[in-house]
Amino acid sequence: MTHPATHALGSYTVNRMGYGAMQLAGPGVFGPPRDPAECLAVLREAVASGVNHIDTSDFYGPEVTNKLIREALAPYPEGLILVTKVGARRGSGASWIMTPEPAALVEQVHGNLRNLGVEALDVVNLRIGHPFGPDDTSLGERFGALMDLQRAGKIRHIGLSNVTAAQIAEARAIGEVACVQNAYNLVQRGDDGLIDALAADGIPYVPFFPLGGFSPLQSAALDALAAQRGVSPMQLALAWLLHRAPNVLLIPGTSSRAHLRENLAAAAIALTPEELAALGAIGAASA
Ligand SMILES: NC(=O)c1ccc[n+]([C@@H]2O[C@H](COP(=O)([O-])OP(=O)(O)OC[C@H]3O[C@@H](n4cnc5c(N)ncnc54)[C@H](OP(=O)(O)O)[C@@H]3O)[C@@H](O)[C@H]2O)c1
Repeated sequence: MTHPATHALGSYTVNRMGYGAMQLAGPGVFGPPRDPAECLAVLREAVASGVNHIDTSDFYGPEVTNKLIREALAPYPEGLILVTKVGARRGSGASWIMTPEPAALVEQVHGNLRNLGVEALDVVNLRIGHPFGPDDTSLGERFGALMDLQRAGKIRHIGLSNVTAAQIAEARAIGEVACVQNAYNLVQRGDDGLIDALAADGIPYVPFFPLGGFSPLQSAALDALAAQRGVSPMQLALAWLLHRAPNVLLIPGTSSRAHLRENLAAAAIALTPEELAALGAIGAASA
C-alpha cells in the first residue's frame, strides 16, 4: 500500500517525512553538541534531500538547535517550514521547567525569532503539561497570548503539544489549531482515537518520540518483520507511522547523517496489508 507524500500544515504543504532537531543539542538535550560540524551537515543534508519541515525549540540546548539551524540553513530556502515550540525553559543540571505564564511565552516567541533570525515564526506549538506527560489544565489564557502575537504578525500558525482531546477542543473553540504534537509510536498508542479524529478534520498529527525517543523501540516482532523485509527496524517503525493515517507528519530525530539517510529512505517503503496488520498487532500487544 502506498501513502501520500505530502500534507497541509497550516497554509503550507510539507513532505510528510520531516526532521526533528532536538538530538542536535547534545547529551541530555543540553549543549554543547558532541559534533557541531556533523550537526550542520545533518541539517544541510536533510534539506538537500527534500525535508521541508523541521521541528525545533529554543529549549533544546537551550538556544543550541535554533542557532545551528540558522547557521546551517539561512538564508532559508523558499518553502522550508520551521516549527518551534514554547512553554518550557531549562534549569541548572539540564532540568526542564514548565513556564505556563503568558509573559514567559511571549518572551520565548521573541527568543525563537531572534535565534532563528526570522521576522515571523511559521508555526509555534504551545507545549503544556508536565515534562513527560499531559495534565488537565485549561490552556485558554496561554493560547490567547499566542493569538495576540499571531495578530501582531509574529506567528503565522499555532499548534499544540502534549495535550489531551479536551484541551484541543478548548483551543479550537478560540482559534485555529494548525497541528498537534504528542508522544506516539508503534508501541505507545494512547492517541489512536485522537489521530483518527484529527484526520477527519484534516489537522496534522506529529508524533514525537516516533522511534521511542530516549528509550529507542525494542521489539523482537519488529526486528523479525524488518529482517524479513530487508529494512531496519527503525525504518519499518517509521513506514508504519506513515501508513497509520494521512495526517501523520514525521519528525524523527538524529544527530548523524547515517541515521538521517536511513530514516528518510523509510518514506519509500510500501507496506502490504499483512505487514500493516502484523505491525499494528505489536502495539496492541504492548498497550
Ligand atoms: N513536543 C515535545 O514535547 C517533544 C518531546 C520530544 C521530542 N520532540 C520532537 O520530536 C523529535 C523526535 O523525537 P526524538 O528525537 O526525541 O526521538 P526519536 O525520533 O523517537 O528517536 C531519536 C533517537 O533515536 C536514535 N535514532 C534515530 N534514527 C535512528 C536510526 N535510524 N537507527 C537507530 N537509532 C536512531 C537517535 O540517536 P542518533 O542521534 O544517534 O541517531 C536518538 O537517540 C525531536 O527531535 C523533537 O523535535 C518534541
